[in-house]
Amino acid sequence: GSLWEQYSAKVAERMNNPRHFGELTAADAQRLGGRLVIANEGAESCGDTVRLYWIVRESDERILAATFKSFGCGTAIASTDMMAEMCIGKTVSEATKITNLDVERALRDTADKAAVPPQKMHCSVMAYEVIKRAAALYRNVDIATLQDKDIVC
Ligand code: FES
Ligand code: FES
Repeated sequence: GSLWEQYSAKVAERMNNPRHFGELTAADAQRLGGRLVIANEGAESCGDTVRLYWIVRESDERILAATFKSFGCGTAIASTDMMAEMCIGKTVSEATKITNLDVERALRDTADKAAVPPQKMHCSVMAYEVIKRAAALYRNVDIATLQDKDIVC
């Protein structure tokens, strides 16, 4: 079928074996010498939701570790996994410049062929929005707009 061929091998691989799936804890933050940030993003319309964990070193705002959990589809899992990977080593400011288009490009097998069918592009938007939410939590801004399950410690 044609749909089957519209997903890249990288998407298939990461949705089945995400490399950055799981939680980070306060103990991890202490071990790495950073601050734990946990951000949630969700789409009320469909119930899909993603949670991003960062450990940020405060002296230079560098993201030392990033992981995620998700109740999204396979494309959301692959996209969020790639997004988490792209966050690692960047500063919080640099991470907020990652877009869902960057994530999609990184998931392509070849530069000229999309990683997912067009109707799945929205699944990577949550991955992108959750970065902005994590950055807002880290900077302690716009807290009123954040969901109550978001945690900064
Ligand atoms: Fe919910 Fe795509 S169906 S984000
Ligand atoms: Fe809902 Fe992909 S996250 S369809």
